[in-house]
Amino acid sequence: MMDWIKGLGKKKSVSLQSEISVHKVPHHVAIIMDGNGRWAKKRGLPRIAGHHSGMKAVKRITIAADEIGVKILTLYAFSTENWSRPRDEVDYLMKLPQQFLLLELNELIEKNVQVRVIGWREGLPEYTLEALDEAVDRTKNNTGLILNFALNYGSRKEMLEGMKRVTVDIQAGKVHLEQLDEEMFSSYLQTDELPDPDLLIRTSGEQRLSNFMLWQLAYTELYFTACYWPDFSKEHFFEAIEQYQQRIRRYGGL
Ligand code: IPE
Ligand code: IPE
Ligand code: MG
Repeated sequence: MMDWIKGLGKKKSVSLQSEISVHKVPHHVAIIMDGNGRWAKKRGLPRIAGHHSGMKAVKRITIAADEIGVKILTLYAFSTENWSRPRDEVDYLMKLPQQFLLLELNELIEKNVQVRVIGWREGLPEYTLEALDEAVDRTKNNTGLILNFALNYGSRKEMLEGMKRVTVDIQAGKVHLEQLDEEMFSSYLQTDELPDPDLLIRTSGEQRLSNFMLWQLAYTELYFTACYWPDFSKEHFFEAIEQYQQRIRRYGGL
């Protein structure tokens, strides 16, 4: 039974990948990786087993994104609101970057991937920061896929801090109020010079943004799937890309 499903999956992958147009691959894909806890619950496992399994999906989707020519992959890994979860779960989540990078950093380097991080350093344990800093530093000159982790990230906090920093610059005379436009304000956000996402994927069936990139998603195509993140396969990902390619982006025009 399993082989049959696997075989079908493989076949589907080939046909789906060939249905993806190389000319309309989204430049920047952002993913709200949701459903780890429910994935585990369905199997009678502790929630952290879902997070562990979710880590494998991160690798899988990074490779898939790179394969089809996505240039930036932003992954929402921990929100500023996720601190309200039980201590044990938060502790486990904080250990994941280190675990992930220990296993995968060499391969990411081989694949010319550049690791970046957005979010706040405050509150993150030292070992998490060290692992992230090492990955960012060792991949900073890579020119391939940008793998951007949003960790301890929250969009409202990001916008508020951006507003405060721009106000300070206005008061100091470094920026004139008349100069401040959307492009300049974007440069005060954590995403700085990164272009806005073209496609946002959220797994697990929830259809909300949960404080993720509210400014940057203004004209992003949204794709929601019921699939839990640990189950999210290359085929699921290609399906999302294919759907994106059928969308017509109007930006308010005709
Ligand atoms: C996403 O899965 C991972 C994080 C938010 C860190 P969840 O842990 O939110 O899983 P569900 O939504 O409870 O199933
Ligand atoms: C969003 O998922 C945050 C991440 C995936 C990191 P949540 O599971 O925290 O979102 P809500 O609470 O269902 O909105
Ligand atoms: Mg969730």
